[in-house]
Amino acid sequence: MSTYVHHDLDVSAAKVVASGAPLYPAVDRDSAAPAITLKPNTSPASQAEREKIFADPGFGRFFTDNVVRAVWTKADGWHQAELVSGAASAGGLSMNALHYGQSIFEGLKAYRHADGGIYTFRPEANALRFQRSAHRLALPPVPTDLFIGAIEALVRQDQAWVPTDPDQSLYLRPLEFGSEDALGVRPSTHVTYVLMASPVGAYFPQGVKPVSVWLSDEYVRAAPGGTGEAKCAGNYASSLIAQAEATENNCDQVVWIDAIERKYIEEMGGMNMFFVYGSGSDARLVTPKLTGTLLPGVTRDSVLTLARDLGYQAEEGTITVEQWRDGCASGEITETFACGTAAVITPVGRVDSKNSGAWNIADGGSGELTMKLRAALVDIQTGKATDTHNWLHRIL
Ligand SMILES: Cc1ncc(COP(=O)(O)O)c(C=O)c1O
Repeated sequence: MSTYVHHDLDVSAAKVVASGAPLYPAVDRDSAAPAITLKPNTSPASQAEREKIFADPGFGRFFTDNVVRAVWTKADGWHQAELVSGAASAGGLSMNALHYGQSIFEGLKAYRHADGGIYTFRPEANALRFQRSAHRLALPPVPTDLFIGAIEALVRQDQAWVPTDPDQSLYLRPLEFGSEDALGVRPSTHVTYVLMASPVGAYFPQGVKPVSVWLSDEYVRAAPGGTGEAKCAGNYASSLIAQAEATENNCDQVVWIDAIERKYIEEMGGMNMFFVYGSGSDARLVTPKLTGTLLPGVTRDSVLTLARDLGYQAEEGTITVEQWRDGCASGEITETFACGTAAVITPVGRVDSKNSGAWNIADGGSGELTMKLRAALVDIQTGKATDTHNWLHRIL
């Protein structure tokens, strides 16, 4: 594997994964993390203001009173870690992230359980993916202790913002970007890490509904050697035109095909995909393998484990557009679903495309195994089922 090694960057966490170790091994707690100084907002939102937001939070429209912010420089490494008012900003118009896109992010949620405790789901996995994304974008990795320490500090401080409605949660958005004000095309020598939080509503307020998908024949999301497996800003900028094409064609989401042969299914807009072959106790699940061009989803990894726990065969493999279409026509493929942090598990009911036809998956409804896995995962995340894999991380 060819690696870009920044002379000052410690990319050891990313290298552990790149060398073929398990996707999400236990991460050593990193002692290089600075302590977080608390300087909270002195005029936080009132209970009444928050209640108004909770009545219709949507996604990512409202933010809590504070953020956690830290700075990296060559001389001092990660320092100046502070919990401050959300109004504070960093960098100017010439900063690297705006011009050259040296910017990565993560997404995870904090849930309030019936016992009053507040938990996140597999934050170590997000920390490790963040470190891998940083490696690819030539950014310094945020130590796991700073990543999780920021989550703990912000959620504790802004705990009143974690909704009590079990269908709602507090979405956590870690962001890291080149904040040096200079136009040279090179890794930024000043980097900012920010954690912000936003209360979010149920993804399906009217109950789970299958989505329709548009196969993107023209636009490609990621090519081998590119940034497909990194959660970087540019991947999302380049996806927007294909998502717009999906919407124009009355589809909810775009599905990406591989860049070389233009036939293998990779993933959906912001979710990984699973295909169910057969039914009942003989059902078998297949998800596209991680070739470097798709995002290694935390939910995808959890679904593979849960499906096996429930006694199903679940494997990583390949599936072409033709196999998907013909498998649905013959009845061999009985269900298709997508999975990710935002919507957990979403059934796919219908496929449309410019060049490969249009078809329904089974009767176009929500598949039985899809809904069973969805319930199993949601029950763990919300504390209704036993967390046998130790995926929950208690904050409060
Ligand atoms: C492109 C893409 N694929 C897959 C996923 C699902 O990943 P996760 O399950 O970690 O949310 C996401 C969301 O983060 C995404 O943006």
